[in-house]
This record gives sequence, structure tokens and C-alpha cells, in this order.
Amino acid sequence: MTETYQITVDPIGAEITCREDQTILDACLRAGVWVPHSCTHGTCGTCKVEVLDGEVDHGASSAFALMDIERDEGKTLLCCATPRSDVVLEADIDADDEAPSHAVEDYAGTIVALEDVAVDTRRVIVELDRDMTFDAGQYMAWQIPATRAGGASGVTRTYSMANPPSQGRRLEFQIRRTPGGVCSDGWVFRDLAVGEQVSLAGPYGRFTVRMRRTEPAVMIAGGTGLAPIASMIKRVLQDETQADRPGPSRILLYQGARTRAALYDVELFRDLATRHPDRFVYRPCLSEEEVTPELEAQGYAAGLVTDVVAADNASLAGHVAYLCGPPAMVEAAMKTLMSRRLFPRDISREEFLDESNRHSGGLRSPLIKR
Ligand SMILES: Cc1cc2nc3c(=O)[nH]c(=O)nc-3n(C[C@H](O)[C@H](O)[C@H](O)COP(=O)(O)OP(=O)(O)OC[C@H]3O[C@@H](n4cnc5c(N)ncnc54)[C@H](O)[C@@H]3O)c2cc1C
Ligand code: FES
Repeated sequence: MTETYQITVDPIGAEITCREDQTILDACLRAGVWVPHSCTHGTCGTCKVEVLDGEVDHGASSAFALMDIERDEGKTLLCCATPRSDVVLEADIDADDEAPSHAVEDYAGTIVALEDVAVDTRRVIVELDRDMTFDAGQYMAWQIPATRAGGASGVTRTYSMANPPSQGRRLEFQIRRTPGGVCSDGWVFRDLAVGEQVSLAGPYGRFTVRMRRTEPAVMIAGGTGLAPIASMIKRVLQDETQADRPGPSRILLYQGARTRAALYDVELFRDLATRHPDRFVYRPCLSEEEVTPELEAQGYAAGLVTDVVAADNASLAGHVAYLCGPPAMVEAAMKTLMSRRLFPRDISREEFLDESNRHSGGLRSPLIKR
């Protein structure tokens, strides 16, 4: 029989039940107890807490995200830790009333559309069995069929919604192929088909657009890091439920790709820029394709997305920022924004950390708290 244990989350004193084979993060989020987390696979360290009493198994925590000395000091990563007794823990829960608060649930989905939108980039539309509420910028954990994961069950990968929260049943995902990757190369780009049933859980994450922050926002997206940012932009510009929550007064979107063949949804953002000329500016940036005067006239910029942001803006004081994409791009963008007078507290970011980062530690600036 599977044991269950009592988990007490201080300083809020919430009490929840957790199975011995369930991560404490999963139990908290399913019970509607919001605790900090980002990657949900033991890589980023965001969910680190102090165990005040009780025993946990640290599971698959990366040695980089949870060092031996921290284990000895009684720290653990909630997204990997499973209980071995009743546990009392202390989490760093901030009283942000815009933090997401939707309980995580399991959903069954049907693939209703698949489209190749750019080089190695596929748009996947999933129709859920029921409506889901989420905040723009959040993501889902996809259950990978055991047949695609070398026979292993319970293997998951995380993908961000690109649709706005007003479409809580028909979810759009933008998935990039990672050569040799179990989920992307081995399933989504191999034989995932329209009509196939998929299992998802969510919503997760707190990389969400803050509708009460009315300062102008600079948004920087690399590759499919565009997905959560697209959801945010659609939330701000298209959702009609925002009368009491104005959101950023203006959005500058910098979308980075090597070439035009790797860019997608250009027409969508151009159209939004035409319809919201005072509120939305779109800058597609090409790092490995010549930007001719003709392309320049169409709004394309030449160079790495971070270099274009730096060249366009002598100062970004008074802005907020949202960054998403590969860890190296996010790290470079942090440096650029700080050199343009933005403070870390005004910058939200999500890195698409993967299995290789779990094993190598990835790139993280000690300056920046998520
Ligand atoms: C919060 C979040 C949101 C995300 N949203 C999106 C999104 O919207 N769109 C998107 O495209 N991606 C997104 N990602 C990335 C996504 O979750 C996957 O990591 C990515 O698709 C790769 O998964 P995979 O199964 O195809 O590859 P994996 O099998 O996970 O492999 C990834 C890489 O790691 C290497 N690797 C595997 N095992 C090891 C090992 N033991 N040691 C060293 N290297 C190893 C592989 O060779 C490969 O290069 C997101 C990630 C996070 C954390
Ligand atoms: S959320 Fe637990 S380490 Fe990233």
C-alpha cells in the first residue's frame, strides 16, 4: 500500500497530504498551495526550501541545483523531493497578489492540428477534455508515452501555452526540435498525429504577465521562447476581460532567430502592430542573414536580439521586461537590460532548461532571483 504523509508549509501553515511516490511540489500545487517553482525538473533551484522537520528523498535533483552541502544543511528541491515521514518545511512564499493561483490538475487532450511553422518548429493544437484556467505565460507538463521514452513511464516534458487564457480549452504549443530529444525528435516531430490522445498536467510556473504593472514592457524571445510571450501579448492586446487591469502601457517585442526561415508568426505580430500602433512595436531580429535595405524597410533588424535591444534603447529605465528562450540568450539579455538601467526586480524570465542543463548545471547568474 502506498503511504501518505502530512506536509506542513511554513510560514503560511498550510497542511496538505502527499503520497510517498509524489513530489511535494506536485502535492502542494494540486492542493492549491502555491509555492515557488520554475523548471519542475530539478535544474533551476527555484523551488529550494528548508526542511525543518522530517525526512525526504531528494530524488533526481541536479547536483548543481542542490549541492551536497545544502543537502547536509537540510535543504531540498520540492519538485524532486518525496516524503519519507511527515514533513515541516519553510518556503520562500512572497505575498504577491498577482502570483498565479490555479490548482494543477490532470487533463486529457486530443491533438487537433499540427503545423510546421518554421525550421524545426511545429505548432501543436490540443483540445482539452474540459476548460482550464491559467495565467498568460504558464506551461503544461506533457506525459510522454512509455513507448516513446524507452519503456519508462512517468517521463514528462514541459511546454508553454501560446494562446491567451480566454481560450482555456484549445491550447496552442510551439515546439522546437532538439536533435536526439526524447519528446521533440522522438515523438512530436516523428509520429505525433492529429487525433492522438495526450495526457497533460498543469498549469505550472510564475513567468506571467503582471497586469497591474502599467509601465512599458520590453519582451525578448529566442526561438520557441516566443510561446509564453505570445500568450502574454495576446492577453494584453486581445483579451476583453481587462477593463480593471490595464497591463503594460506599451510593448516592445524583440523576436530573435538566425534567419527568416526560423522566424514564425511574423504576420500575426505585424498585424497587431498595425492595429495597435501606440501600444505595440515589433522587431524581428536576424543574426545570421543579411538584412538588406528592403528587409530593413519591413522592420527587420540585423544582429543578435540582445545587440539590437542595446542599439535601439540607450536607456530602459522605467520599463519592465520579460525574457524567454535558451539559457544563454536569457543570460545575455539580463546583462543587456541591466546595462540599460533595468533592475533585476523588474525583469521576469524563463529559461527553457532541458536535460543537458540538468546534467551540466546550465548558466545562472548569482545576481538574479527568479
Ligand atoms: C518551463 C519550461 C517551458 C518550456 N516551454 C517550451 C516551449 O514552449 N517550447 C519548446 O520548444 N520547448 C520548451 N521547453 C523545453 C522543453 O521542455 C524540452 O526541454 C525540450 O523540448 C527538449 O525535450 P526533448 O525530450 O526533446 O529532449 P531531451 O530528451 O530532454 O534532451 C534534451 C537535450 O539533453 C541532452 N541529454 C539528454 N540526457 C542527457 C544526459 N543524461 N546528459 C547530458 N545531456 C543529456 C540531449 O542529447 C538533448 O540535447 C520548456 C522548458 C521549460 C523548463
Ligand atoms: S522548479 Fe525545482 S529545481 Fe526548478
